Amino acid sequence: MSLAGIFLIVFLLVHMGINLLVIIYEDPMVYNKVAHFMTSNILIKIFEIILFGGFLLHIIYALILQVQNWIARPRRYNKANYSNTSFFSKFMVHTAAIILVFLVIHMMDFYIKAKFGHAAEIHVEGVAYHDFASEILDKFKMLPFVIFYIAAIVFLGFHLIHGFQSAFKTLGMDNRKYTPVIDALALIYSIGVVAGYSIIPVIIYFS
Ligand code: HEM
Repeated sequence: MSLAGIFLIVFLLVHMGINLLVIIYEDPMVYNKVAHFMTSNILIKIFEIILFGGFLLHIIYALILQVQNWIARPRRYNKANYSNTSFFSKFMVHTAAIILVFLVIHMMDFYIKAKFGHAAEIHVEGVAYHDFASEILDKFKMLPFVIFYIAAIVFLGFHLIHGFQSAFKTLGMDNRKYTPVIDALALIYSIGVVAGYSIIPVIIYFS
């Protein structure tokens, strides 16, 4: 569960870095060429299979853990907030469900369109590139999309704060020396991810 989580933590940083190219460079082909490399390189294709495997493992383990928790404590505590767990850890299943809905919509928007041939293409020097950049620019000119993406990314941030902390603690870094460092890194990482992803729709919408 934690290894799959750490894998996803790294994926999110790489994906964010690539997507930021849309707002950094005016020429959409910069983004399209990087996206093309990411979707056609054999090593990255293998990474993609591992990524989807990681997602699946993460979800399956999470469901098993949740069911085990329910079986271990079928009745809720009589006193509200009796359990000594952090605010974000209480809502992991809820935020996960929101992220899953977001991912299904996100995949239908970009990934499935590209895989099954409905995405717009640009031909440069005999090579066909999916025009993801223009699709992103068009999408984020629509306010409902901007709001939906930012809301989902904020929930992703809530999920990541606890997810990051617990992934590293499960791997043994839970002691007086490491815990404050892990907690601080979790906060910096989560705020960075929320800010980095949210700035893309905001800048596109207002430009
Ligand atoms: C501003 C926000 C985002 C934009 C503009 C964006 C854009 C894209 C695009 C264009 C693709 C298809 C091209 C490609 O495969 O690289 C894609 C794929 C994907 N996105 Fe996003 N994305 C955003 C946020 C997210 C977030 C927050 C997540 C995770 C929670 C995510 C997860 C994925 C996954 C798993 C794929 C398919 C795997 C891959 O091909 O890399 N994306 N995204």
